[in-house]
Amino acid sequence: MLETAICKMLGIKYPIIQGGMAWVSEHNLTAAVSNAGGLGIIAAGNLPGEDLVHEIRETYKLTDKPFGVNIVPIAGVKFTDHLKIIADEGVRIVSLAFSDPKMSVISELHKHRITVICVVPSVRLARRVENEGADIIVAMGTEAGGHVGKIATLPLVPQIVDAVSVPVVAAGGIGDGRGLLAALCLGASGIQMGTRFMVSKESIMHSDTKARILEATEEDTIVTGMVTGSPMRSLSNEFTRHWQTREKEQGQRAKEELQREGLGRGYRVIIEGDMEQGTLPMGQGCGLVREEKSVRDIIDDIISEAETMYKRIGTMKT
Ligand SMILES: Cc1cc2nc3c(=O)[nH]c(=O)nc-3n(C[C@H](O)[C@H](O)[C@H](O)COP(=O)(O)O)c2cc1C
Repeated sequence: MLETAICKMLGIKYPIIQGGMAWVSEHNLTAAVSNAGGLGIIAAGNLPGEDLVHEIRETYKLTDKPFGVNIVPIAGVKFTDHLKIIADEGVRIVSLAFSDPKMSVISELHKHRITVICVVPSVRLARRVENEGADIIVAMGTEAGGHVGKIATLPLVPQIVDAVSVPVVAAGGIGDGRGLLAALCLGASGIQMGTRFMVSKESIMHSDTKARILEATEEDTIVTGMVTGSPMRSLSNEFTRHWQTREKEQGQRAKEELQREGLGRGYRVIIEGDMEQGTLPMGQGCGLVREEKSVRDIIDDIISEAETMYKRIGTMKT
């Protein structure tokens, strides 16, 4: 049941992808996920070229399993440099961040025989990236941590499954075996998770920040950034509430100032542990994260819970 189309395409044992996470998914987390049978992904969006080379080479040292690199295909964001590095370093899988490429990134990657995973928030964008050649589409609902759209995972996934013919992966709010099984029932070929992997033993996140996530409830996230055109779901704290109030009061007039104020806030909370002034992307599934486990335990527990739930549903009387 758990060996799906993406397992074969990506060369992985379990249909579980760790989404690229700026500052969080570096070589240790990426390799741990790949070694545990999922697909680990290095986040490149925040990295200068030489750091990306370093991350890729360190990952090769830690695993001989497939892994990917996540890039942010917005013109001007170190993106063409990243493409060259990925090709030169022999990376076989790339995921394109939740953004509209606006140029022919996919065909460029295909020239190097790289498998391309595209993360999308809508059926419209799913159709478009499929036409451009996406090999796998991640349907990411608004429950997710990071940049989000408006549609929730439950309605989004089956509508994208119906609209495209490539395999679809569900993301947004998934943190356990129930979520994996639900995603498969919606027609997805697997899941992508971010929030759950942030609190793992291999994650380099600051211990105070991990502790804050372990306490978080489903009501502790906030969406900001409407005025910038890239809404983001993150931990509700002093800074993100301030940002939301400014947006409500000043709308577009606050855009440039808020963009400036927002710089460097991810690093501040993820690496330095500044819980009130940093911006921590975090999904509504944070309430499912109650224990810091190793990546292998996270993945094994998800698989065994999904299998148990599947058997239980089969014997249920409705
Ligand atoms: C801390 C953090 C950073 C993220 N950074 C990126 C990124 O750089 N690129 C990207 O495509 N997605 C990014 N995401 C989204 C994840 O890859 C993933 O799709 C998402 O977390 C899935 O939803 P979940 O958080 O509910 O599991 C980020 C998410 C988090 C939590």
